[in-house]
Amino acid sequence: MSLLKGTKVTWLGHATVLVETAKGTRILIDPFLEHNPKFPKSFELPKIDFVLLTHGHIDHTADAAPVAKKHGATVVAIYELALYMAAQGVEKTLGMNIGGTVRIADVAVTMTQAFHSSSLQVGDTFVYLGEPAGYVLTIDDGPVLYHAGDTAVFGDMALIRELYAPEVVMLPIGGGYTMAPKEAAVAVRLLTPKKILPLHWGTMPQLAGRPEQLAALIDAPERVVIVEPGEAM
Ligand code: NI
Ligand code: MN
Repeated sequence: MSLLKGTKVTWLGHATVLVETAKGTRILIDPFLEHNPKFPKSFELPKIDFVLLTHGHIDHTADAAPVAKKHGATVVAIYELALYMAAQGVEKTLGMNIGGTVRIADVAVTMTQAFHSSSLQVGDTFVYLGEPAGYVLTIDDGPVLYHAGDTAVFGDMALIRELYAPEVVMLPIGGGYTMAPKEAAVAVRLLTPKKILPLHWGTMPQLAGRPEQLAALIDAPERVVIVEPGEAM
C-alpha cells in the first residue's frame, strides 16, 4: 500500500502491533502473546529489534521480557517501566518520557501522553510503573504512525496532529478500560488520519466496542481498517 511506503503493520490482537519498516527494523508494541486469547498461535514472530511498551498493565507487558531476552531486543518504555524491565533481566533498555523523542534505527520514537493508569501486581502489592503513554513513530522515508496506548480521548490529540500529522492511528475502542467508538470518533476528528486501526476490542466480553461502530460515526468510514489478528494492514 502506497500510504505505508513499504512499512508493514500487523495487528496481533488486543493492543499488540508489529511494525516492520522498509529498511527491515522490526518493532513489537505491547507484546501480549501467550495469554492473549486473540493472538494467532500459529503466527511466527520474526526477529524483533525493539519492544515498545505503552504502560505496565499485564495485558501490555506480559511477554515483553521473554521476547526481549529471546531476540536480544531493546525495550523502550517510560523511565520507571524501563527500570522495571531491566530488573526483570532485560539487558538492553531505553528509558524516555512524555514529550521526548529517541531514535531507534530508522525510526524517531516520540512518547505521547495517555489518560489511563500504569502498575503491575507483584504478589499482593501494586508496583508503580510510571505514567501511561502512547507513541508516534516517524519512519525515515516512511509513514508516521501513532499508537495511542490505553487512553481516554483527550483534546491535546490536536497537538499530536499539529506536531507529527500521523497518517495511521491505532486507537483503543473496546470501552470499559479505554475509550469506546463514541469517544474514538472524536479522537479521529482531532487526529484526521488517513487510516485507523482499532485496538483493544473483542479480547474479552467487556471490550464490547467494534470497528463497525466506529466506522458508522466518522466521515470517510472506509478509513477504518478491519483485519483479523495476524493480518497486516
Ligand atoms: Ni491498561
Ligand atoms: Mn489494556
